[in-house]
Amino acid sequence: MHAVVLHTFGPAENLRYETVEDPVPGPGQVRVTVKAAGVHFVETVMRSGKDDGLTPPLPELPAIFGGEVAGVVDAVGPDVDAVWIGRDVVTRFGKPGGYAELAVADLSSVREIPAELDYEAAVAMIVTGVTALELLYIAKLTPHDVVLVTSAAGGIGRLAVQYARDLGATVIGAAGGPAKVAAVRELGADLAVDYNEPGWEKAVDGVTVVLDGVGGEKAQAAYDRIVPGGRFLIIGAASQQEFTPDPDRDVTVVNALLMLLEGLPDAPDFEGQALAAAAEGKLVPTVQAFPLSQAAAAHAALESRATTGKVVLVP
Ligand SMILES: NC(=O)c1ccc[n+]([C@@H]2O[C@H](COP(=O)([O-])OP(=O)(O)OC[C@H]3O[C@@H](n4cnc5c(N)ncnc54)[C@H](OP(=O)(O)O)[C@@H]3O)[C@@H](O)[C@H]2O)c1
Repeated sequence: MHAVVLHTFGPAENLRYETVEDPVPGPGQVRVTVKAAGVHFVETVMRSGKDDGLTPPLPELPAIFGGEVAGVVDAVGPDVDAVWIGRDVVTRFGKPGGYAELAVADLSSVREIPAELDYEAAVAMIVTGVTALELLYIAKLTPHDVVLVTSAAGGIGRLAVQYARDLGATVIGAAGGPAKVAAVRELGADLAVDYNEPGWEKAVDGVTVVLDGVGGEKAQAAYDRIVPGGRFLIIGAASQQEFTPDPDRDVTVVNALLMLLEGLPDAPDFEGQALAAAAEGKLVPTVQAFPLSQAAAAHAALESRATTGKVVLVP
């Protein structure tokens, strides 16, 4: 099969489209012909070889990145019912990695794709959709909340804006540049602001909750707009910069990312919920697709903030 292999940490062009051995499904596993594979911002940081404590541990090389794939089961392990062959499925645990034409996964990790969803939407929901639901679960928004979402035109951001609106909260979406701001407005945000413009935060008032995946200066400006008693949820730091909350302020800072990594106790079935919400049209994922052979371009686009919505690779 073809796969995208990283042999040396470094720039995006180090991602090589190569021929590797087909994976074989073992006991309890199915093999999937990949139709769409998810790409994550954090994978660009890992690919570069940065090990700053903010990202997961670096993989051993050579490595095939990714794990979430949607596609068609084309083979099953020795003890798996052949009835699975031909079914449309999605999983977050594809091996040897998601950036490939074929992936194997434990049957227990596989979900059938609802008929209403295409492969790209399914793969967008299985991790990024789930993360958005988890973030909103931790945030416990009420219709009285005024929520500010940073990177609001991004993979998580777009879903968070839709979900927060659905809950009845007032939603402010902040994103970089006029095109992204227009997209956030179209999603139904009550206010959409361009946080590349100096002083953007002055247009923002009465914020009770911030959902932030950017960090650095933008997070700082968002934090400063929170009213006493409010909360600031961290889901990532795309800027790779931290910000320093003021310990004397009456604002609760929640490291939601850490909570997710540690596992939420008594969590509902977020995968099922995320797929159902998209199937029902309650949450509409926006996808930016690149050919699998162009994985390096997908990484470069993510790093240069040129993407919007969820980035996927299509073999
Ligand atoms: N997707 C997931 O499942 C998941 C899971 C756990 C954590 N996270 C974290 O949550 C955050 C959002 O994830 P996402 O997948 O939805 O990504 P994303 O928002 O689609 O992409 C990253 C965005 O961050 C913004 N950004 C601001 N400063 C940046 C910089 N210096 N370099 C690059 N981008 C910058 C850009 O949007 P603007 O141009 O609008 O600023 C960029 O498009 C990230 O920190 C990610 O690591 C994501």
